Amino acid sequence: MPIKQHAVFTNFHEVQHPLLQHKLSLLRDRNTDKKEFNELIGEISTLLVYEVTKDLPLINKVIDTPLESCEMPVLAGKKPVILAVLRAGIGMVDGFLNLMPSARVAHIGLYRDETTLEPHLYYFKIPSHSKDRQFYICDPMLATGGSAIRAIDKLKSSGVRKISFVCILAAPEGVERVFHAHPDVPLFAAKLDRKLNKKGYILPGLGDAGDRMFGTK
Ligand code: PRP
Ligand code: URA
Repeated sequence: MPIKQHAVFTNFHEVQHPLLQHKLSLLRDRNTDKKEFNELIGEISTLLVYEVTKDLPLINKVIDTPLESCEMPVLAGKKPVILAVLRAGIGMVDGFLNLMPSARVAHIGLYRDETTLEPHLYYFKIPSHSKDRQFYICDPMLATGGSAIRAIDKLKSSGVRKISFVCILAAPEGVERVFHAHPDVPLFAAKLDRKLNKKGYILPGLGDAGDRMFGTK
C-alpha cells in the first residue's frame, strides 16, 4: 500500500489506497448515518493497521506442518497494545483487533475544553509490564494536536518507549505541534486535511467524530 512521508514533518505518514480514500469520502458525508459511520470507521482502521504494523519484529519458531518441521517467522516479544483515546478512539479498536486479535486494549480518557481547546485527562489504564510493548494510540482526529501530545506524554512518563499514533484525519497545525513535541513518534493518517477552523475543527473534516459515532448531537 503506498505511504507518503511528509517532507518537513518527517514523522508524519499519509496512508494512500483507493479503498481507503473512497471510504473516507463516505465517512465525511453529512448524510452518512450512525450505523454506516461506525462501519466505515472500523473498515478504515483495519486498512490502516495493515500499514502501521509493517515494522513489527519477527522471530523464527519451529512449526510442525503435517509433513515436516520447519523454522518459520512469528511475531516477536510481548503482545502489542491498542490505546483508545476516549471517546472516539473506541470506534477504531475492533478494526485493529480484526488483524491483531490478541493485542491488549488500553484506554486513556481525554476531552477538549470547548473554549481553550486544552485536553483534560480523566482516565488512564494500560496493561502491567508495558515498558517493552509496542503501543498504537488510536484517535480518529488529530486537530490542534493537544490530545495526541497529552496521550504520548502520559505513555512516556509511564515508561513506554515504543509508540505510534494512528488517526483518520489530521490537521497541519496539529501535525506540526506533535512533530516539535515528539519527533520520535510516528504519526499515521488516512488524510492530511487543509486546516483548522476558529473552533478547532478540521476542514473539510467530518465534524465531531465522537458525536457522529455515538449519536450524541
Ligand atoms: C476529539 C477527538 C480527539 C480530539 C482532537 O475528542 O476525538 O481526541 O478531539 O482534538 P485536538 O487535537 O485539538 O486535541 P473530544 O475532546 O471532542 O472528546 P470526545 O471524544 O469525548 O468527544
Ligand atoms: N475533534 C473532532 O471530533 N473533530 C474535529 O474536527 C476536531 C476535533
